[in-house]
Amino acid sequence: MATVLYPGSFDPIHLGHLDIIEQASRLFGKVVVAILHNPEKHGGVFSVDERIALIQVALQSAQVKNVEIHAFPGLAVDAARVVQADFMVKGLRNSGDFEIEQQMAHTNFAVAGIPTVYLPCSPAYTSVSSRFIREIAQYGGDPSSMVPANVAHALKELFS
Ligand code: PNS
Repeated sequence: MATVLYPGSFDPIHLGHLDIIEQASRLFGKVVVAILHNPEKHGGVFSVDERIALIQVALQSAQVKNVEIHAFPGLAVDAARVVQADFMVKGLRNSGDFEIEQQMAHTNFAVAGIPTVYLPCSPAYTSVSSRFIREIAQYGGDPSSMVPANVAHALKELFS
């Protein structure tokens, strides 16, 4: 059974991420959710430890038994090596995601020989994005339709 790495910033985890984790957990033997640094994103809302805790709680109601959560410094391919992942998994919302993910997939394969598998997100989540969730919460809006209940609560605590 394959082990897969699902890398991302997860700041914070949202329902689209959970959908991909649930799909991957049904398809593969083990799913490692890897919190990594995206150099294009500065100044996160939640610390890495907080992100891990939010993912752990969000997964409690998701009926997944084969999922681990870890944070890694540096490259996704190095995280994949550490956990002996056979593939990386990425979720695709739209063609914009495909352009970005295809470039990363080719680069990761070129430097480390690790293939990437894409999973389409469910139609309900094609517009869900951590960036917009952060913005909505920061300006006093309600992002609770896009995040698990514990994340909605944490955002409210943070910005109220
Ligand atoms: O959730 P995000 O921000 O879209 O995830 C992007 C992430 C963290 C997966 C990507 O930035 C990444 O892989 N960062 C680790 C550094 C790395 O491996 N860079 C080379 C990418 S080809």
